[in-house]
Amino acid sequence: MATTQPSKLSLFPLLSLLCFTSIFLLLSLSKRASLSSPSTHPSARTVFPPKPDSSLRTTTCDLSHGSWIHDPNPRSARYDSSSCKEIFKGWNCVRNNKTNGLEISKWRWKPNDCDLPPFDPLVFLETHRDTNIGFVGDSLNRNMFVSLFCMLKSVSSGDVKKWRPVGADRGFTFLRFNLTIAYHRTNLLARYGRWSANANGGELEALGFKEGYRVDVDVPDSSWAKAPSFHDILIFNTGHWWWAPSKFDPLKSPMLFFEGGRPILPPVPPADGLDRVLSNMVNHVEKTKRPGGIIFFRTQSPRHFEGGDWNQGGTCQRLQPLLPGEVEEFFSVRNNGTNVEVRLVNQHLYNSLKSRRGFHILDITGMSEYRADAHPSTAGGKNHDDCMHWCLPGLTDTWNDLFVANLHRIKVL
Ligand SMILES: *[C@@H]1O[C@H](CO)[C@@H](O)[C@H](O)[C@H]1NC(C)=O
Ligand SMILES: *[C@@H]1O[C@H](CO)[C@@H](O)[C@H](O)[C@H]1NC(C)=O
Ligand SMILES: *[C@@H]1O[C@H](CO)[C@@H](O)[C@H](O)[C@H]1NC(C)=O
Repeated sequence: MATTQPSKLSLFPLLSLLCFTSIFLLLSLSKRASLSSPSTHPSARTVFPPKPDSSLRTTTCDLSHGSWIHDPNPRSARYDSSSCKEIFKGWNCVRNNKTNGLEISKWRWKPNDCDLPPFDPLVFLETHRDTNIGFVGDSLNRNMFVSLFCMLKSVSSGDVKKWRPVGADRGFTFLRFNLTIAYHRTNLLARYGRWSANANGGELEALGFKEGYRVDVDVPDSSWAKAPSFHDILIFNTGHWWWAPSKFDPLKSPMLFFEGGRPILPPVPPADGLDRVLSNMVNHVEKTKRPGGIIFFRTQSPRHFEGGDWNQGGTCQRLQPLLPGEVEEFFSVRNNGTNVEVRLVNQHLYNSLKSRRGFHILDITGMSEYRADAHPSTAGGKNHDDCMHWCLPGLTDTWNDLFVANLHRIKVL
């Protein structure tokens, strides 16, 4: 699959020219658009003057579909990568001298029919006094949590207490506002651990299983089991670990699902395990959440490996967001490319959550699929490219804008 990409990619200059031309025509018909240096950014979209009235329409507008607009002078730097100690070393692209480390934040997400303004951290602290906010999930949710922390910290005077509420990996209380944010680390949401065959035999042993991981589909990880009764607002995610055959090798160390303490027989594949876990975890949240608690489920964060997967020398060297045609090439399920899992995971999420009215979906996938330029890549400090996490400052700042905008819609309704 990867070896066929170069020839297909050679079409993109032509496609991008076509795209650019048609976008330009559309825009010049409907808006007084001013172009941002089209010679250096043939892929770049246009810069609009900010429309002061359009925020009024955000209560109905779809914030998750739109395009990235090059904005060489972002209205304000959101936080300083050198002063926010919470940024994980490998995500600090500016300090690690990533070529485009400073460019990443110079793109602004423009929903098709309105604007998504950067949220105001000081107003956020003021309006969410006495509130606990929990991020529950894998390292991509930690990435988003750190972004929120850095933005709040950059404007807050007064002390911040560092602690670990109810099983959290890390958490902070902004004491002046009594606002707590915490990150609860869990890869699968459900509890799991190493499993090996019992010498006395058993149902799985009889089927020939020797090693694997036991995943209890009905038991939440202890890192977050109490989070719904503590936090007023929760943001969940899971995904990458379900499509990680290098850890959960289907032959050498398969996921073995248990329910009610007994193995599920016949054994089910990870995709079915994910559905059962989602259904059970959502039940747990609904049963134990605080009165008035607001629950988000964040959609899957895309990876951008090119030329192979993370352990096959795959890289992400792009300096600009992808074009719409390239996004389809990367991610359409039909193409079955290196990063195909993103939309597959989302199918499971949407199916599991469609009848759960208490869960709000935070759809960051579409906007993130464009941002092949925004991963740490070789600046991640690993022995392979990091094309999965995001540079900070960077994309997850925009995820938080989307989170805050959605939160305000819910609170207004
Ligand atoms: C980044 O560049 C600066 C200045 O050239 C250098 O001092 C620093 O060691 C570099 N940092 C990394 C992580 O390579
Ligand atoms: C701080 O906020 C928490 C969570 O809402 C609340 O339970 C607690 O009473 C508040 N503390 C103070 C001193 O107001
Ligand atoms: C998708 O690609 C993977 C790895 O390249 C391959 O193992 C798998 O069989 C493919 N799946 C489909 C449905 O074609």
